[in-house]
Amino acid sequence: MSEIDAKKCFDVALDLVKQAGKVVREAIKKKKNIETKSSAVDLVTESDKAVEKMLISGLSEAFPDHKFIGEESVSAGQKCVLTDEPTWIIDPIDGTMNFVHSFPYTCISVGLWVKKAALVGIVYNPVLEQMFTAIKGQGAFLNGEKISVSGETELGKALVFSEMGTSLDPEKVNTVLTNITNLMPKVHGLRGLGTAALGMSSVAAGWGDIFFHFGLCCWDMAASTLILTEAGGYVCDTEGGPFDIMRRRVLCASSPELAEKISKLLKQYQPERDGVTK
Ligand code: IPD
Repeated sequence: MSEIDAKKCFDVALDLVKQAGKVVREAIKKKKNIETKSSAVDLVTESDKAVEKMLISGLSEAFPDHKFIGEESVSAGQKCVLTDEPTWIIDPIDGTMNFVHSFPYTCISVGLWVKKAALVGIVYNPVLEQMFTAIKGQGAFLNGEKISVSGETELGKALVFSEMGTSLDPEKVNTVLTNITNLMPKVHGLRGLGTAALGMSSVAAGWGDIFFHFGLCCWDMAASTLILTEAGGYVCDTEGGPFDIMRRRVLCASSPELAEKISKLLKQYQPERDGVTK
């Protein structure tokens, strides 16, 4: 495998993400063609497909030997397999439900992983002009300004982000509701933005202290987990063990202490791993 030029990869991806942002910014104001995927609340629009195509075509032109995992390509039948090869992991529109309703919390998420570790992460909300970026070892930035986590360690002072998710499986729904019921009296506040990538990036920016979620996919986490750790945050599995991007669960926190405290309270849920049946 030839040496990867992280800065070049970042620059090419950033330019493409900005172009894709124009598409999302225009399309969010208009009527969308909506299709459903795994459930009645798991949506895709023509813009998700167009943005993914645009990103993959631009990146593969610049980096012909790189691999891709894209949300909509996987939905269309492509295998979701992460190898040691440089792999761009793409969510063309994270928060598709929000996008459909013109709720301006939606973003493009692009992560480059090499040898199963994150090297570059970009999360861009083109509607609110929030560009979160990170290159491994070089810090995390919002619109070019360095960001860092809050460093909060007390659960009672923590603002916690999670998501309802796109699965209507009764066991999953029960997990979501049980966690809300159990956590509400113990934390400062609970929030759900409707986009996991922006939820994790918000913790990176210090706008909240914890993000946890069961049932998301590698493309929801590939960029924002790097942004979080480069901002000084801590990422692990929801039970507290090492983070595994294909395991479909994540716990991000402003400090390891906070991650440990909340992991002990969470009702756990294990969806099928990414790459097993898709
Ligand atoms: C979804 C969003 C949502 C989360 C789901 C994701 P999508 O991504 O991040 O907040 O709860 O698990 O699948 O489908 O809008 O790209």
